[in-house]
Amino acid sequence: MSVPGPFEYRGDALHCEGVPLAKIAADVGTPVYVYSHAELERAYKAFDAALEGIPHRVCYAVKANSSLGVLAVLAKLGAGADIVSAGELFRWQKAGGDPAKVVFSGVGKTDDEMKTALAAGIGCFNVESAEELEVLDRVARSVGKRAKIALRVNPDVDPETHPYISTGLKQNKFGVAMSEAPGLLRGAAKLAGLEISGVDFHIGSQLIKTAPFTDSIARLVALVEELAAAGIKLDHVDIGGGLGIDYGKGDVVPSPAEYGVAVRTALAPLMKLGVTLYTEPGRVIVGAAGALVTQVLFRKRNEAKHFTIVDAAMNDLMRPALYQAFHPMKPVTRPERPTITTDVVGPICETGDFLARDRELPELDRGELLWIGAAGAYGATMASNYNTRPRAPEVLVRGNSYTVIRARETYEHLIAGERIG
Ligand code: LLP
Repeated sequence: MSVPGPFEYRGDALHCEGVPLAKIAADVGTPVYVYSHAELERAYKAFDAALEGIPHRVCYAVKANSSLGVLAVLAKLGAGADIVSAGELFRWQKAGGDPAKVVFSGVGKTDDEMKTALAAGIGCFNVESAEELEVLDRVARSVGKRAKIALRVNPDVDPETHPYISTGLKQNKFGVAMSEAPGLLRGAAKLAGLEISGVDFHIGSQLIKTAPFTDSIARLVALVEELAAAGIKLDHVDIGGGLGIDYGKGDVVPSPAEYGVAVRTALAPLMKLGVTLYTEPGRVIVGAAGALVTQVLFRKRNEAKHFTIVDAAMNDLMRPALYQAFHPMKPVTRPERPTITTDVVGPICETGDFLARDRELPELDRGELLWIGAAGAYGATMASNYNTRPRAPEVLVRGNSYTVIRARETYEHLIAGERIG
């Protein structure tokens, strides 16, 4: 299995760019998230370049990785942001991101979040229901503003991904039915607090085929043409995020360039209408740039299995427990040695606390370090304090040096705000 991304062995030692992971672990402790600056830049630029030739805006999905240090890299490259809470807007602005390039997605925005986003001057609200249109109109008028909106439609296309991260089927809670969109937009056009800017969809995450995107775009094209004929002119269409990455499991994932070709072809009929394409990629920008480095605490074998017990757990990286997700793993030193089949598990008191099951891995000794790859997206952002475990620090490597962009939490952080009776 090849190690995806910017992590490679130099001699016997796994490095991130020019820095040995063992050095970071020695300095900062484990578990620790490590990100490559070069890979963040490369992935963002590759995605952006794939859409070259059509007017477009890349709105990075902040939920994938919202550390200020990561956001700042992307903001500097000119990225916009897809946010789903006022908290993410706060982070984006703290990291130097431009609020005018923000789209605000999500089925459940509060009135306060709407006000905060209006005050910040965000680019667009991706509205997901008839009631949200009414409320946003009212809130915008109450603060003397007009909210730019895109209506999120549900194209009812199967993204063929894990059911928990599939969002574009009619049984999902997201968006409105295609057939309802023209009526809702005609109504919205009459509301003084709203300015119609676009339509959008997001059909799911970790998509490994282009067909669900192009099928959805075909439906969107038909809708935009129908709207244009009815006198509703849009200035953008937003096709969400969702492009998958290689988790080292043998899936063949379209490259951003292949995705770009498919998207451009499917969108071609709209180009004469002068619309700009918005996208909301998360995983494909940050996924391969990050790894979780953990240390082996114990090994044990029972009648059925061998277990490698490490100091990272489901609270640090929830994806295996929640989605049965596969993450590549490698020893941080000496990759060439006999392998065993083992379950890699954490210290948390749940059978669901595993990071890998029945994995073929070089046998590791107590104290050795294990690299868990492709963890830059939905790793740190989904971490929790379950079992009163402080969240892991995050380190950003740049060339031969690194910065701790988020310190390990302390026990005092964990109880801040609590009181006894
Ligand atoms: N736009 C919207 C409206 C979204 O809901 C999402 C992700 C994205 C963009 C970015 O999708 P991406 O390009 O990253 O696939 N925690 C799950 C993934 C949940 C994705 C939720 N929405 C995981 O670890 O696989």
